[in-house]
Amino acid sequence: MQSVLQRPTVLLCAAVGLYLCVLGSVSLVASPQAVQAPVRNALPAVRTGAQIYDAACATCHARDGRGAPQSLLGFETEVRDFTDCTVSAEPTPDWYAVVHEGGPVRALDRHMPAFGEALTSEDIDKVVDHLRSFCAEQDRWPLGDLNFPRAFFTEKAFPENESVLETNVSTQGDHAIGNELVYERRFGARNQIEIKVPIDLQQQGDQPWVKGIGDVAFAFKRAFYANNGSGTIAAAGAELILPTGNADKGLGNGHTVFEPFAMWGQALPRDSYIQMHGGIEIPSDSAATKEAFLRTAIGTTFAQDRGFGRAWSPQVEVLWARPFGEPSEWDVVPQIQVSLSKLQHVLIAGGVRVPLTQRDERHAQALVYVLWDWFDGGFFSFWK
Ligand code: HEC
Repeated sequence: MQSVLQRPTVLLCAAVGLYLCVLGSVSLVASPQAVQAPVRNALPAVRTGAQIYDAACATCHARDGRGAPQSLLGFETEVRDFTDCTVSAEPTPDWYAVVHEGGPVRALDRHMPAFGEALTSEDIDKVVDHLRSFCAEQDRWPLGDLNFPRAFFTEKAFPENESVLETNVSTQGDHAIGNELVYERRFGARNQIEIKVPIDLQQQGDQPWVKGIGDVAFAFKRAFYANNGSGTIAAAGAELILPTGNADKGLGNGHTVFEPFAMWGQALPRDSYIQMHGGIEIPSDSAATKEAFLRTAIGTTFAQDRGFGRAWSPQVEVLWARPFGEPSEWDVVPQIQVSLSKLQHVLIAGGVRVPLTQRDERHAQALVYVLWDWFDGGFFSFWK
């Protein structure tokens, strides 16, 4: 029975061509349908990304990458416009996973078929490269591959669209819970603005708890260098911390702080990376101390389910700060980040900041953040 059904299908595919075959195999059975050998067989032995794309993807994504019109698609989900360079923010491993496993691996539409059996991993690399080429200004747009996992203190060079809620809790000494709401918005290929709003809760000795907004900060940065090939990105910018908090209650500095900074990120072999972030804090009040800092984060990413599933990124930060005229302060921050949603646009991280110097005044802090990359979709979308 099976062979009777299969043979005409295969013959038909060979005769009518690959377009119909892919379309046919997709619409016949509930997706994601693994597209089988016909795709591979119909391609020349040495094939380019463009050839693979035209044969296996263009029916839905259109030859020009803009997506086939709804009338031709036969399903309602709109497909993405690959000529829109903002797609460069999608990391290559995510696209690889979607092409290999089908849309549902990242909670995308089930009409996106799985090509893991029809295409070799080399084919998939080539066709993903071809997808990248639809963005006409590839060199200006840093790839999502340079968007390394977020560390607690070492800020990244990549211009992001995300919201983060970060909480730190002191483990000893005066009770203090610090919350920070961070909103980051990318504009253009390489720029980003950022707003940080601290909401603090503190208790000194047996005094009642004090709570309120601390010093709100605004920052701008620009990735002035990005090399997708070598996996390098560098950015510079500045932050202005305004005295919005009530300094008498211990909720702020009581003066403005100007902080020029620079950051650098480098991909290392085996999904590992190093990130650095240095700067100087210059207070408007000449009686307050200036401070130089350099923060380094080193980490790696593992993904479950043969590399296509949930991503775990353990990393460690080393923090150095030097108030002018005073000894250096050193801290280490072991931490781990894990993706929660299937699309990996909602992540959680936990860590501990452990002081290595001045340990009688400085205590360990527990840290947590939840990160939402809102550009990719609603907080509650794309979980299954
Ligand atoms: C039967 C139609 C169909 C075919 C054939 C098809 N796709 Fe898709 N593809 C979709 C749909 C539907 C989506 C989900 C909507 C979206 O994100 O654009 C999708 C999503 C994707 C995405 C994820 C885009 C994102 O949102 O990050 C990538 C990458 C992709 N397709 C690549 C390919 C490649 C490469 C091929 C050929 C090897 C291919 N597709 C063939 C329908 C198809």
